[in-house]
Order: sequence, then structure tokens, then C-alpha cells
Amino acid sequence: MQDTILVTGGAGFVGSNFILDWIKRTRSSVVNLDLLTYAGNPANLSSLQGDRRYLLVPGDICDAQRVASLLRAHQPRAIVHFAAESHVDRSIASPEPFIRANVQGSFVLLEQTRLYWSELDDADKLAFRFLHVSTDEVYGSLAVDDPPFDETAPYAPNSPYAASKAAADHLARAYHRTFGLPVVTTNCSNNYGPFQFPEKLIPLMVLNALESKPLPVYGDGGNVRDWLYVEDHCAALCAVLEKGRVGETYHIGGNSERRNLDVVTAICEIVDEMRPNASIGSRRNLVTFVQDRPGHDRRYAMDASKITRELGWRPIEGFTSGLRKTVRWYLDHPAWVESVRSGAYLDWIRQNYTERDAN
Ligand code: NAD
Ligand code: TYD
Repeated sequence: MQDTILVTGGAGFVGSNFILDWIKRTRSSVVNLDLLTYAGNPANLSSLQGDRRYLLVPGDICDAQRVASLLRAHQPRAIVHFAAESHVDRSIASPEPFIRANVQGSFVLLEQTRLYWSELDDADKLAFRFLHVSTDEVYGSLAVDDPPFDETAPYAPNSPYAASKAAADHLARAYHRTFGLPVVTTNCSNNYGPFQFPEKLIPLMVLNALESKPLPVYGDGGNVRDWLYVEDHCAALCAVLEKGRVGETYHIGGNSERRNLDVVTAICEIVDEMRPNASIGSRRNLVTFVQDRPGHDRRYAMDASKITRELGWRPIEGFTSGLRKTVRWYLDHPAWVESVRSGAYLDWIRQNYTERDAN
């Protein structure tokens, strides 16, 4: 094997942060297999242009031949599997692409990896890792007083996105139990930070606040998410890749539970401070309660004590400082924002928000 890892979906939000971090941290090379959907943006990795340790391969994880020939050509020592359709609202509007990418794609990747891995010599077989990157959403919704999800929580996905990720988690587990493939799975809470596509809550609200557009809060704004700065997620994935026990699942969380309305209000205050706009006063005035998401999970929270105990990882960034950094990044990168807001993006915004009646 080579000192190379194969990353899938590395041109997306978490994947591109992971690759940038990995190249800084290690000496190994990265092959990035990415279909470059609306969410994949090679410009996220433009700082690696000309770096011989990084290669972008545009392609589909559903394409078995493509995956097989990449594995043969690059002989990776690990796979870090991010590639997915990732937005819950899109999965409600159109579930099929989620089944294709997240279920079929994960299956093809696991099967081709199994064939590649089975031909390795014993030492390489032992060293190889398949890191399956998943989400807290597979566990469904917590009540206000419930303890956070630990690794024994039962699966109860509520959206087509969550169900497709749950299916992929089960396949990854089965490939370990049945074939011995050295799989490790992580389930992480909501990430935020640079390069997040502005369909997700935090970047959408930052950009709308900046442009004095309505801030569409679903339902009563009381839904709770556990927020993690993306660099902390990347550090956790590195720890799991290097030291995680094969066949295990590790929960990753930020210990930062917040109500959506509080997140939006905090964003308003930061944008008001960084870009004051006397004509609208406080951006809080832009908050607009809109029709709720169907099947909207009330609360997610992760118990990350296992990864802290076993691998020594814990989140470093606080929510207030992480949110300030994130807002600053979006204010400082108008060209990036412009480049990801294609016609297709505008169509999505029109579809998702004009079809939601104001409450
Ligand atoms: P994203 O939507 O920003 O990026 C997904 C990437 O996958 C894009 O670059 C896209 O082009 C690529 N892709 C999609 N279908 C593909 C296919 N068939 N073949 C190859 N590439 C394909 O998503 P993200 O937020 O970066 O999430 C990455 C992974 O992390 C996902 O598996 C997601 O479930 C998981 N995760 C994300 C979060 C979060 O808060 N963002 C939290 C926990 C887990
Ligand atoms: P999102 O960023 O889509 O992540 P997820 O659904 O995976 O948690 O949404 C985070 C929370 O913010 C979720 O409770 C839905 C809510 N939300 C809004 O209130 N308004 C919006 O415009 C969006 C996109 C999300």
C-alpha cells in the first residue's frame, strides 16, 4: 500500500476542511473522489493547487469500475467516506438522490473496498481502515430531558436523509461483521465553519442577515442542535483513523446545545457589530417564523465521552468564538459566496422558502 488515503466527497464542506487539515498534519497523500454536485466545490481546495500530495478525481462513488480502478491505481491505506447528499430539506423535496448517493453509493464503495482489501497482504490488511463518516440524525429526536445519545442508542431516523445515512451505517457495520473489513464509524453532531454551503442554517442566516433579507426560522425556533466547529470534527476523525478500534462507533459532539432561535439571534448580534446597518437597526428584526419542516426532530445531543476516554479527543473551539470566526469568514469571502450561488442555488431557495407560508 501507499501512504495515501482516498477521501470521498472531499470537495464538500466537511471533506474539504478535512483534506486541508490532513495535508497540514501528515505527510501522506490524498486522492479526492468527488462527483462535484451542487455541494462540491473544487475551489475550496484551491490552496492545494500544484501540491503533489493532492489529487482531485471527479467521479461517482456509484460507479463500481471507477472506484475499483482508483483503488488499484493508488493503493490507499485508508478510505475516509464523506460523499453524500446531506441536506434534510432537499431529502424531503426529493428523496431519490439520497437513496442513490448515500445507500447505493456507500454499498458500491464498501463492496469495491472489500475486493481491494481482500487482495492485500496480511500486514496491509491489518493496517487498512474504512472510516465511515455519519451523523447524529440516525438516532431521531430527543425529548428536552433525555440524556444525550451514546453509542448504544437505537436507530430511529425520521427524514429520508437520516434514513439513508442509517442504511449506510448498517451496511458499514455488516461489512465489518460479515467480511472482516476494518470499518470504524463516527456519528457527529451539526458542524459549522468555513466552506459550508449556504443552504444550511448558519451560513444561510449569516448571508441573509448581511443582505438584510428575512431570516426564516422553522416552527417556533425551539428545536435544539448540538453545534461543533468543523475543525474539531476533523481532529476527531484523524484521532479515530489513527487510534480508533476496528468495528467500533465513536460519537463526536460539541457539548454546545443551542435552540435555533438563539443561534439566529447570536448571528444577528455578530453581523450587527461587524457590519452595522443603521437603516434596518438590529438584524433581529429580520427574524421571520415560517412553516415547520415536516418530521422536524426536536432535539439532538451527543454523548462524546467514549472518544474522549479512549482517544483523548475533546472539542476545543467554544460556540461563541467559533460562530464569530465563521461569520468573519463569510464576510471576508464574498467571491466564494458568489461562486456557489449559481442559478440552481437560487432555484432551491425559491422552492424551499416561497412554498413555506409565513406563520
Ligand atoms: P456536503 O453536502 O457539503 O458535501 C458532500 C460532498 O459529496 C460534495 O462535495 C458532493 O459533490 C459529494 N458527493 C455527493 N454525491 C456523490 C457521489 N455519488 N459520488 C462522489 N461524491 C459525491 O456535505 P458535508 O456537510 O460536507 O457532509 C459530509 C459528510 O459528513 C456526509 O456524509 C454527512 O452525512 C456527514 N456529516 C455532516 C455533518 C454536518 O453538519 N455537515 C454532521 C455529521 C455528519
Ligand atoms: P440544518 O442546517 O438544515 O441542519 P439539520 O437539519 O441537519 O440539523 O438545520 C439546522 C436547524 O435549523 C434545523 O432544526 C432546521 C432549522 N432551520 C431553520 O429554522 N431555518 C432554515 O432556513 C434552515 C435551513 C434550517
